[in-house]
Amino acid sequence: MSDPIVYLNHEFMPLAEARISPLDRGFLFADGVYEVIPVYAGKSFRLQGHLDRLKRSLNGIRLSPPMTDAEWRQAIETLINHNGGGELSIYLQVTRGAAPHRDHAFPDGTEPTVFMMATPRKPPEPGLLSEGVRAITLDDIRWRYCHLKTVALLPNILLRQEAVDAGCAEAILIREGLVTEGAASNVFVIHDGKLLTPPRGPLLLPGITRDLLLELAKEHGIPCRESEITLDQLAEASEIWLTSSTREILPVTEIDGRPVGSGEPGPIWAAMMGHYRAYTDRLRSGEVE
Ligand code: PDD
Repeated sequence: MSDPIVYLNHEFMPLAEARISPLDRGFLFADGVYEVIPVYAGKSFRLQGHLDRLKRSLNGIRLSPPMTDAEWRQAIETLINHNGGGELSIYLQVTRGAAPHRDHAFPDGTEPTVFMMATPRKPPEPGLLSEGVRAITLDDIRWRYCHLKTVALLPNILLRQEAVDAGCAEAILIREGLVTEGAASNVFVIHDGKLLTPPRGPLLLPGITRDLLLELAKEHGIPCRESEITLDQLAEASEIWLTSSTREILPVTEIDGRPVGSGEPGPIWAAMMGHYRAYTDRLRSGEVE
């Protein structure tokens, strides 16, 4: 594949030419935030939702937005076109930039670093959808600002790796007996016939995919509630799903070594997947964002 074109600080360039300073605070302190935006047939998925969350993350780390929504939209569209459109995943990162000296406190007058790249988007393998995936529960060792999408992902990385080492696709995180989310996904369960997902708050990232699922459930009459999910409810769930921009809606068919429901992807997941596909088809044809 030819060198992808990336965006760095107001310029488009081949990836091989992109340079940032080792003094960048993203590198030294993980002092930055990010977004992952899926692209279907050249169209960004729920771009306003991603831009709004980006602004909340920037505000949460006290960094002024370096660009307006219109400028982000323009830059993202140009990046998509430079990379051939089609099925992509945009990665966007803003850090507090490179200061001359390493100091924890915010530097004065430092320009943020803005980086974006577009990579081919690979939807989950059909086998993962037909058979589902395994997950394990792990203690949520993260901080208490999990609603901000920061690049400080070391806890998430260690948790995901622990899951992978156990032959699982995801770690479902538990804080004080309650489900928060996955290491890089939100969690939905079917319990007593109702679709449940933990409520928004500082302990989990408000996923853009999660928001769409809540809307689709309402639209299609699937009983649904944002509610705490206990470890017992997770164990009793007839279906468990993971949602994210990269994995869409992934059914979990085994948790902590035990089958979930029948041990196969459930009927409500199949229905929701149909609604989700219908939505992305409308996105491809330009009817929705
Ligand atoms: N992560 N929770 C966490 C901790 C996440 O990292 C993600 C997504 C989600 C789902 O959010 P969304 O539906 O907006 O993708 C929830 C991205 C994909 C990543 O870090 O690569």
